[in-house]
Amino acid sequence: MARVSGKIALVTGGASGLGRATSELLAAEGATVVLTDLQDDQGEEVAEGIRAAGGTAGYYHHDVTDEKAWEKVVGEVLAEHGRLDILVNNAGIGGGGVPVDEMSLEYWRQIMSVNLDGVFLGVKHGVRAMLETGGAIINISSVLGLVGLPNTAAYAASKGGVRLLTKAVAIECAARGLDIRVCSVHPGFIDTPMVGAAIQRGGPERRQAILNSQPTGQMGEPRDIAEGILYLASDAAKFVSGSELIIDGGYVAR
Ligand SMILES: NC(=O)c1ccc[n+]([C@@H]2O[C@H](COP(=O)([O-])OP(=O)(O)OC[C@H]3O[C@@H](n4cnc5c(N)ncnc54)[C@H](O)[C@@H]3O)[C@@H](O)[C@H]2O)c1
Repeated sequence: MARVSGKIALVTGGASGLGRATSELLAAEGATVVLTDLQDDQGEEVAEGIRAAGGTAGYYHHDVTDEKAWEKVVGEVLAEHGRLDILVNNAGIGGGGVPVDEMSLEYWRQIMSVNLDGVFLGVKHGVRAMLETGGAIINISSVLGLVGLPNTAAYAASKGGVRLLTKAVAIECAARGLDIRVCSVHPGFIDTPMVGAAIQRGGPERRQAILNSQPTGQMGEPRDIAEGILYLASDAAKFVSGSELIIDGGYVAR
């Protein structure tokens, strides 16, 4: 069954990890997918893979921290496809292992810039694009937007910001009578290059510590998150807005 058949979707950070799995699943379920990223070769490869599997996809270079780039990408989607139905604000950078009293303002601002400013710009230009036609905006937060973890002050603050930005805009859209749903997704630890990089920095003990912190003893797979995003993007979620979907193997249930 094609659950997002005929819809036009924009996925940021689509070249890797969760964004890649989401782009592939939305396309397999009938959406036309525009995926964007900074990693051009990988992004083109993902789009090519989707087309080779019979789907419809294109890739754009797009820095989510740059408002002019948002105007350009959304403008091109509207010019080419006539509307935007689904926006997945997924691009993000990791951050951890830095005690707050050793954290530079530059580091803090870099994480905020991608993880929070980038989502704000996406929501702003996504809502503009959806004013007439409606749509669904899905913002990727984290379990670290819900609960604390030592040495992650900037990352956790950025993801907590995404959670409430989402809720504020969801009820703002409802109050304005706009048919735009806005939700956040809170992945637990998922085996992607971002987590791989953290493990590389911390060594094998870091990997074991992550596994030990999981109720199931396992990390999730990118597809586990893509399935939740697909649901929120589909008409099956037509009464779902301002919600936070936690997909974490029980990490925050304890
Ligand atoms: N993997 C996890 O365990 C996990 C858990 C919770 C939340 N998340 C969130 O999920 C999202 C995806 O993470 P992932 O694990 O797939 O990471 P990833 O590193 O595999 O993919 C992130 C992608 O975002 C792109 N990106 C980074 N900065 C960008 C920018 N300024 N403009 C455009 N693209 C940019 C990267 O090039 C990369 O392709 C992030 O927002 C991350 O914080 C991941």
